[in-house]
Amino acid sequence: MTDNPWTAGRVLALPGHGPRLLFGRMYEDPRVEARAFPAAPARVLCVASAGDTAAALARAGYDVTAVDVNPVQLAYARARVDEGAPAAPGSAELMLAAARRATAAALPGWRAPALHEFLDLDDPCTQSRWWRTRLDGPGLRLLMGMALRPVGVLAAALAPGFRHVVPARFDTELRTRVARVVARHPNADNPLLAGLLAGRAPKPRAKAPDLPGTVRFVLGDVAEHLEAVPAGAYDAVTLSNVLDGPGPAYRRRLRTAVERAVRPGGTAVLRSVGGTGGTTAAVRAAEERCPLWGSLYVTTIGGTR
Ligand SMILES: C[S@@+](CC[C@H](N)C(=O)[O-])C[C@H]1O[C@@H](n2cnc3c(N)ncnc32)[C@H](O)[C@@H]1O
Repeated sequence: MTDNPWTAGRVLALPGHGPRLLFGRMYEDPRVEARAFPAAPARVLCVASAGDTAAALARAGYDVTAVDVNPVQLAYARARVDEGAPAAPGSAELMLAAARRATAAALPGWRAPALHEFLDLDDPCTQSRWWRTRLDGPGLRLLMGMALRPVGVLAAALAPGFRHVVPARFDTELRTRVARVVARHPNADNPLLAGLLAGRAPKPRAKAPDLPGTVRFVLGDVAEHLEAVPAGAYDAVTLSNVLDGPGPAYRRRLRTAVERAVRPGGTAVLRSVGGTGGTTAAVRAAEERCPLWGSLYVTTIGGTR
């Protein structure tokens, strides 16, 4: 499967070999699945990643299969879900922490306690005003431009297979997405925004024995797994990031595998960091409380919602 850069288990261009912990926490809003999925209990599949989505689905009573091609990530997710192991930083969190340090050093509005005051607001109008007047100024534009343009710091730090994933003007795009999130969702009820902007830790969670649903962990590629299970084995699947990197051949393969493995009338959710305003998937991404996503597809197998 040379078409898929996720198989290497590395997103950064660092020396060395072998898979690493990429995500110490997840940045997906589980309310999207809660709204889109058929009622629990149902057979659902997600990507294991840091385990948060799998745990949220099991907490809601689903029978969850969590698949990951990265053995380090799978072991980490399993330890968090089954044993309540604490969160640890992955490549994504190390990069975000460096970005937050640089931003706070340069821009006073981005330092505690002001930033925490912003993240504790619960009125989208006040939040939007605060974002426009105290956070999204020329200094932020300059820093984000240096970091997030296709020739910027992020693209240089990424492994070659992921460089093309950074949207053309990710700096302006991401600022627009944050503005969209704060204009719609109360910050005080948005741990995803607080995690991203301030690195606030997620709340500790119940361990597997205390969850109403179940989680089964599977090591492997998700398309391969979906091709191997009986047709209609799942009522719903949610796949984030899996098409951020692979080429069109993998995209076609995954689509065929999803349409076979999910029963007719079942649901497929797909998030991607790519995508810009205007498209239905971009508009739909506004349902998300996490601003990282540019596209959110919610598809009924046998018809599109
Ligand atoms: C689901 S995303 C991370 C989640 C998302 N960025 C978030 O934070 O909400 C990345 C994870 O998907 C896994 N992954 C990507 N493509 C995959 C594939 N084709 N099959 C199985 N796992 C995959 C990676 O190994 C990684 O652990």
